[in-house]
Amino acid sequence: MAAREIKTNIWSVGALDWDRQLFDELIPLPEGTTYNSYLIKGTEKTALLDTVDPSKTPDLLDNLSSLGVKQIDYIIAHHAEQDHSGSIPVLLTMFPQAKVVTNIKCKGMLQEHILISDDKFMVIEDRQTLSLGAKNLEFILAPWVHWPETMLTFLKEDKILFTCDFFGSHLAQGGLLVGESAAARQKVLRAAKRYYAEIMMPFRTSIKKHLETLKAYEICLIAPSHGPVYPDPELIIKAYRKWISDEVKNEVVIAYVSMHSSTRAMIDYLLDALIKRGLIVKPFNLPRTDMGELAMALVDAATVVVGAPTVLAGAHPEAVYAAYLLNSLRPKVRYLSIVGSYGWGGKMVEQLSGLLSNIKAEIIPPVIIKGYPKAADLTMLEVLADAILAKHQNDDLVRKEACNNG
Ligand code: FEO
Repeated sequence: MAAREIKTNIWSVGALDWDRQLFDELIPLPEGTTYNSYLIKGTEKTALLDTVDPSKTPDLLDNLSSLGVKQIDYIIAHHAEQDHSGSIPVLLTMFPQAKVVTNIKCKGMLQEHILISDDKFMVIEDRQTLSLGAKNLEFILAPWVHWPETMLTFLKEDKILFTCDFFGSHLAQGGLLVGESAAARQKVLRAAKRYYAEIMMPFRTSIKKHLETLKAYEICLIAPSHGPVYPDPELIIKAYRKWISDEVKNEVVIAYVSMHSSTRAMIDYLLDALIKRGLIVKPFNLPRTDMGELAMALVDAATVVVGAPTVLAGAHPEAVYAAYLLNSLRPKVRYLSIVGSYGWGGKMVEQLSGLLSNIKAEIIPPVIIKGYPKAADLTMLEVLADAILAKHQNDDLVRKEACNNG
């Protein structure tokens, strides 16, 4: 990605990664990603805000070269994860006078992870400012978006907030800014929601605090370190407010796996029963599921049902993985249940319940049957559907959804 000017003396100098398919060897990247890095030239000093993934260091160096950058005084490190910090060692070799500007926690992590020596750092405190000459940076510590050391930078004169992972999206696109059309905005919001679901959702409480802090700032542009820049900051701030709120929708996520169609028959029956009752269902056949899509569905759902057969004495490993993931992502889901079929026994409910211990949801009694579902088993699924409906009605979700759809 070529260097592009955002505003006078502020450039985007990072890299597009169209082809990357997985992040952390875990998170699917159906639309690639970007590693955004920003160069700010003051009248006296030059700062680089974040670097890029080590695999894209040549792109960053080319961009700096194309702008004729001969000196970098400060490398602002918002976050120690290597997709933003990984090029710092190379830059320190090229610009040996540069100081890595960051908070004390991030300094420690950079020393541990990318082996930067102590003398290379300038440690800053929360709300400390740094003048580049005619451009002043204010640092805002914002822990847990999504590591403990994360921070933001506000460029006062231009009212730009640099947020690193916070408000980011794994979306490679030609345009630097979020487009103005409704379709362009929707595309970015979808990618940002996916990013939120996969990476930020466990930190809702911290994010709430940070959004409160940001109310004191007049922000004209949000520049994250993944995905496009927001010329309309409210677009992403409003979306985050909704995602982190305690509100849930009249939606039931059903994450299931079936080996010989018994669990599948239960899921199909339950899906129909829920649809007939006016609930919105989101089924995910786990062996064929993009986990990012499942994570996104968890952002709003009121209820989650995990469906699995037993393998040996426990739940199918696909369901175990989904339960582990669900537990780690900590969605705001209010109700949880388990359905499944066994051959001759097992401890599936105990095992899955144990894996889901972080989820502060009410458990609706599971439906576990032997073999293929029979009439009495289908009746139990009707009871489960009734119970879910009653919970959603009690929370006023069904009526709300009907109003929203109207
Ligand atoms: Fe984009 Fe947490 O690194």
